[in-house]
Amino acid sequence: MKTLTLTGLSTPVARLGLGCMGMSEFYGSSDDAQSLKVMAGAVELGVTLFDTADMYGEGRNEELVGQFLKTRRDAVTLATKCGIIRNNEPAARSIDTSPDYIKAACDASLKRLGVEVIDLYYLHRLDGVTPIEDSMGALADLAKAGKIRAAGLSEVSASTLRRAHAVFPVSALQSEYSLTTRDPETNGTLEACREIGAAFVAYSPLGRGLLAGAFRSPDDLEDGDLRKMAYFPRFQGDNLAANVALADLIAQMASDRGVTPAQLALAWLLSKDGVLPIPGTRKIERLEENARALEIELSAADIQALEAATPPDAVKGTRYAEGGMAVLSR
Ligand SMILES: NC(=O)c1ccc[n+]([C@@H]2O[C@H](COP(=O)([O-])OP(=O)(O)OC[C@H]3O[C@@H](n4cnc5c(N)ncnc54)[C@H](OP(=O)(O)O)[C@@H]3O)[C@@H](O)[C@H]2O)c1
Repeated sequence: MKTLTLTGLSTPVARLGLGCMGMSEFYGSSDDAQSLKVMAGAVELGVTLFDTADMYGEGRNEELVGQFLKTRRDAVTLATKCGIIRNNEPAARSIDTSPDYIKAACDASLKRLGVEVIDLYYLHRLDGVTPIEDSMGALADLAKAGKIRAAGLSEVSASTLRRAHAVFPVSALQSEYSLTTRDPETNGTLEACREIGAAFVAYSPLGRGLLAGAFRSPDDLEDGDLRKMAYFPRFQGDNLAANVALADLIAQMASDRGVTPAQLALAWLLSKDGVLPIPGTRKIERLEENARALEIELSAADIQALEAATPPDAVKGTRYAEGGMAVLSR
């Protein structure tokens, strides 16, 4: 099993984690009993880094993970996030990363999760007002108080990462990274993570399902699925058609190798030093399928062929609509 030990944590984790977000919101309906089985299945497979956030399902996702932790707290490396404040609509939000807000949010997460300590506590986005040094100071205080073990950041710039790390160790940067989102290779963040010894946690490693063939058209998605809405330009109209064509190329390459598209997309991320993908799923058979990516070794020629098939400029549409893009890379 490929593993990685995050700075500040003593227990190594598998190089692939479990994204829990879709178990409570954004990607259509879910079933808590089934999601709890997925969490139990993950632990059985050694997939022990669980990823949630206070804003997923407006707290319900943390409560659901907390329900599982009642029985298996010892088995899980628990990661959650704060900083994004929901304003009723699924896509309407504001950001607060002031020290007082971070400390209050952490107490609220500990309560919902029903745990005494969070293993990895991320700032989900930065508010663009609070200096990163002040926000990291709050995380250092939380660590001193025994409420968190390690700190992480999500979607920040390489220079912010370095400034943050000078105040308190940054154990992980969580940003979008997949065959259809290659920004970390050019914006300096992958390099900065390697320099400071932080893991690069790749979120939406399956391109929110597109790369795994989870959908090809809006008709494949339930009403209310955020991927059907303007919030995700990549999944609208002509952009979707162009991006599905890319996913088809990956699917063909996967079939040629006798693996599934999801496994190939994950194996590609696993071929990158220090990268830990956290695919999300509500289905036990997909969890098992995804975990088998840990066993796939790609050759340099395989990696080159995959990257040649998906040049960044072939991907159509931005990752988020304007408001979401504006708060990245602070
Ligand atoms: N830091 C951030 O700002 C941020 C943003 C987004 C996400 N995240 C984290 O990253 C995690 C993963 O990202 P994500 O859920 O957005 O995207 P993802 O992992 O790229 O894709 C999830 C989607 O793919 C489907 N899927 C999973 N495995 C599959 C397989 N083997 N075959 C076919 N379809 C498959 C899932 O459907 P089913 O559920 O039906 O299987 C779901 O619709 C989230 O759970 C969350 O914890 C963080």
